[in-house]
Amino acid sequence: MGTYMKLAKRVLETESPVMVQIQEILRSCKDAVSLAQGVVYWQPPEEALEKVKKIVDEPLTSRYGGDEGLPALREALTKKLQEENKLYKSSVMVTAGANQAFVNLVLALCDAEDRVVMFAPYYFNSYMSFQMTGITDILVGPGDPKTLQPDADWLEKVLSTEPVPKLVNIVNPGNPSGTYIPEPLLKRISDLCKKAGSWLVVDNTYEYFMYDGLKHTCIEGDHILNVFSFSKAYGMMGWRVGYIAYPTETKGLAEQLLKVQDNIPICAPIVSQRLALFSLETGSDWVRNQVKDLVKNREILLDALSPLGVGAVKGGEGAIYLWAKLPDKHQDDFEVVRWLAKRHGVVLIPGSASGGPGCVRVSFGGLKDGDCEFAALRLKKGLEELVKHGMVQ
Ligand SMILES: Cc1ncc(COP(=O)(O)O)c(C=O)c1O
Repeated sequence: MGTYMKLAKRVLETESPVMVQIQEILRSCKDAVSLAQGVVYWQPPEEALEKVKKIVDEPLTSRYGGDEGLPALREALTKKLQEENKLYKSSVMVTAGANQAFVNLVLALCDAEDRVVMFAPYYFNSYMSFQMTGITDILVGPGDPKTLQPDADWLEKVLSTEPVPKLVNIVNPGNPSGTYIPEPLLKRISDLCKKAGSWLVVDNTYEYFMYDGLKHTCIEGDHILNVFSFSKAYGMMGWRVGYIAYPTETKGLAEQLLKVQDNIPICAPIVSQRLALFSLETGSDWVRNQVKDLVKNREILLDALSPLGVGAVKGGEGAIYLWAKLPDKHQDDFEVVRWLAKRHGVVLIPGSASGGPGCVRVSFGGLKDGDCEFAALRLKKGLEELVKHGMVQ
């Protein structure tokens, strides 16, 4: 038997990470610009970085910390959750990013044979987290055709059918669509989950990334787990800090979460937790100030996508993404992405990676406006050619 056959079926049957494929495309196309990766162009607040420089040689920075996170950071986050998110009955566990938070939750809440629910188009890493932990019964619900908001009528039916899903996952605002979930819909989804006895996991990675006066809201309950991230808001992608706000009153949950945490990171990197705390001290107004300029990028890219026609582009009310339907004649999104990269030097994410074939995801967070204009020019030219003449070689 070759080595290949000895690998775990769970992992072999997990999708390949789309970002790895995209990085290969980027490497193979000289000078290609990326509208692919879900990143922001800014760095953490300067004063926070200055403070962190002074603590690298403190002995505590090199030791393990408590599994749940540094007490001072947890305290600051508890205050933030109360003041900004109106979550008053939640405890905090600091993780090495929101992705690790999600895996912790899947491991603590689900067994391999459980049914779970997500909505298309979904965040690919969450789908992979289910697959990687052995879960195969993943129901992908539809979004409203106009708004892409999760279809709560569909969810109601699914939650009243055996086997009742153990966990429902939503992302607000969404990746890959940038669609936000208004409070009444969030409440309805929560009530349906509560009635069915299902967990609801809400990924709030893009809580600050809201535009046009829309407001992000959170919801609390003994069946709700809220996930947050420092990555995009504070430009801390590589520092790896996220957190779970879990219901304090739900008996036994903290103990089970701690088992998983103790076996994966033990604790999130101490130096990163300190930077997270210093960044919180700088305050969320700093984040809002960074985010407000992204609207310009969104408008620039909306114009670049205009060759796809009226109604082809959706989402973008929040997060850093636009979601665009490709022309009917060119529904192989991977092929279109490769062609755009090779011929026009601009890279997007194929929608198939998120359960949305025939579409592409465009990120407007990673480039400053001048660079974004440059990428947009290439994209517009490419799409005009695609629509008029097809994938000319
Ligand atoms: C919806 C969503 N959740 C989680 C993550 C991962 O965040 P982190 O860097 O905190 O692991 C991302 C990153 O793109 C995301 O878009």
